[in-house]
Amino acid sequence: MTATAPSPQPSPSARLSAAPAGYPAPMYPHRATEAQHTERRIRSFQPRRGRMTNAQAGALDRGWEQYGIAIDGSPLDLKTLFGGLPVTLEIGFGMGETTAAMAAADPGMGILAADVHTPGHGNLLQLLERNGSENVRTAAGDAVILLRDMLTDASLAGLRVYFADPWPKPKHHKRRLVQPSFLELALPRLAPGALVHCATDWEPYAEQMLEVLSASPELENLHPEGDGTGWLEPADHPAGSLPGYAPRPEWRPVTKFERAGMAKGHVVHDLLFRRR
Ligand SMILES: C[S@@+](CC[C@H](N)C(=O)[O-])C[C@H]1O[C@@H](n2cnc3c(N)ncnc32)[C@H](O)[C@@H]1O
Repeated sequence: MTATAPSPQPSPSARLSAAPAGYPAPMYPHRATEAQHTERRIRSFQPRRGRMTNAQAGALDRGWEQYGIAIDGSPLDLKTLFGGLPVTLEIGFGMGETTAAMAAADPGMGILAADVHTPGHGNLLQLLERNGSENVRTAAGDAVILLRDMLTDASLAGLRVYFADPWPKPKHHKRRLVQPSFLELALPRLAPGALVHCATDWEPYAEQMLEVLSASPELENLHPEGDGTGWLEPADHPAGSLPGYAPRPEWRPVTKFERAGMAKGHVVHDLLFRRR
């Protein structure tokens, strides 16, 4: 009997080009986000051209192979990717300052950080490199595809959505990320006990988030008593009904969009729920 050599493990770049049928294979990691834009669906983001600094491009070149993931529909093995750490998915990390700070503060938690904005990936990789953080993987593309096609059930210890695009015009409300169809997709991926943390400075969206999350019997609001800053005037809600927002957790650093919202006088709401 002849011994067969073990088949070589695919390199990260091989994984990038091995998109299943129906998905455009990203030709180049930095192009992964553009590739996703071809799927016809209402999307929660606006594709934008962003200029990348040399420092961000350098960090992408150095870090992508090891830390980058193309959202291309291929199943992900989070246990292997994160060396067995529990993993929280953050959707829409923007430029990644908050992600990097939270990763450095809690190295025992893996963060799967998803966004479509390529300069943000470069910026996050640069910050992680500077901090020496090893517990983050940056996923390029639409997080809806990541949740739908690439993650297994009960694989996430948490879900973070900080300052998701508010889509203020009524005709655009259907583009908001946090809505019943999104929760339907996300809930099975959450392990029992997983923490769902949303924050927004857009009050009508906060109200929508609260409604969507509260409607699920599989989620428990950790702060049904509210944070005392609910925007409803007491006369607007019957005695005994509670706003349900969480006090701002001190472990969530102020984000870039949050700072901009507060400068405009917006009130920020956090929502903290746990998967039963
Ligand atoms: C308003 S920004 C907030 C960024 C950051 N969290 C902050 O607070 O500074 C929203 C981000 O979510 C990203 N985003 C929106 N929908 C997304 C999706 N379906 N998948 C991945 N990223 C998404 C956008 O590209 C954008 O960078």
